[in-house]
Amino acid sequence: MQELEGRGRLVVRNIGQLLTMDSVPGELGTAPAERILEIVPEAAVVAEDGKVVWVGLEQDLPSEHQESGRVVDAGGRVVMPGLVECHTHLLFAGNRANEFALRSLGATYEQIAAAGGGIAHTMTATRKAGADSLFAAGLSRLDEFLKLGVTTVESKSGYGLDAESEVRLLEVMRSLQTRHPVDVVPTFLGAHIVPPEHRSDRRRYIDILTREMIPEVARRSLAKFCDVFCEEGAFSPDESREILESGAEYGLIPKVHAEQLSRSGGALLAARVGAASADHLDFATPDDARFMAMQGTVAVLLPGATFFLNKKRYPDGRMFIQSGCEVALSTDYNPGSSHTRNLWLMGTMGCTHCGLSPAVALRAITRGAARAIRMEHQVGRISRGLLADFLILDVTDWQEILYLYGHNPVSQVYKRGRRVI
Ligand code: NIG
Ligand code: FE
Repeated sequence: MQELEGRGRLVVRNIGQLLTMDSVPGELGTAPAERILEIVPEAAVVAEDGKVVWVGLEQDLPSEHQESGRVVDAGGRVVMPGLVECHTHLLFAGNRANEFALRSLGATYEQIAAAGGGIAHTMTATRKAGADSLFAAGLSRLDEFLKLGVTTVESKSGYGLDAESEVRLLEVMRSLQTRHPVDVVPTFLGAHIVPPEHRSDRRRYIDILTREMIPEVARRSLAKFCDVFCEEGAFSPDESREILESGAEYGLIPKVHAEQLSRSGGALLAARVGAASADHLDFATPDDARFMAMQGTVAVLLPGATFFLNKKRYPDGRMFIQSGCEVALSTDYNPGSSHTRNLWLMGTMGCTHCGLSPAVALRAITRGAARAIRMEHQVGRISRGLLADFLILDVTDWQEILYLYGHNPVSQVYKRGRRVI
């Protein structure tokens, strides 16, 4: 990434409201919005060599920072951290527009999967796709995320489901990381479903996962996390636990797709194995939330999946906040259950469908999401020592950001101190 870093000094002045997200941990349920967002009015930010070196009121800007470097005038508008997208299935071939149409006529996601569609359909197309076409698709999807203000993207494998294809997906992610300004954080999701060729002997596939794929992925440092889809029709809690523990032995941090379509025990499992996050959580209970809070497992809410699958029960974000969990929101970008890259829209849905306040929702797409991918010391806040990833928005009052829903409020995007949009 060296060549992509903004060299030298960058001074951003005339910021009407700077949302640093740099508040001390506190009661998110009761704290006023200004404290959650830690707003600095009439602010300036200084970055050097891709990192933030100074944040404060413009009137306090030290004179040494005023002498040289590029100066950007924010025009009195809002500046906030680059968005962090903490749960995507970025790389896949083909599309499932036909399933969207079938659901509009009343078919369910589960029925379509049982009939051979769903994840298995995308797996077949993805296995056939070459690395070059996956790479090209990945580049254009990252471009789109960046235009929408996303500067860090977690990306799961999981449409290969054999050793060769899973490794290919993770290798493509690694190439994308070197060729695109967005930081790509890779997750191994070989345990997405049991692929059709192993349906009659699922034990065999779990052995392949734990004895062949996980050791290979770890040996080549291809992933940071190991994720499992814990659900009826995918993996049971016991199977999930075995896979996650095997991943952890090899240094892969656990994550869980939990309580999406039913209450399956995935959230408790996530907390038990020290997962960075449990994701979806539409069917999670107050006990799940309490145990996750105790273990520091972030609650990643994916209201786009609930919406796009035409389900009625949304994750209860307020329950997680009241239990003391860090909450994140994500698009779950994938070809089946949530085909969107608009994280701002997820912020709005966090407010309308998950019981979050706009301030907490903005934290959930920055700082909360950074914590879900264990990058809270690099991204998600505007603070000394963190990456200079920030956005200049086309609004002068932060309350307008999620209010104009479905809209992209981004005017300029800076990644590591360099203007990229
Ligand atoms: O997060 N739940 C499992 N995995 C994805 C859906 C993947 C697909 O349908 O292709 C999800 O919703
Ligand atoms: Fe997912």
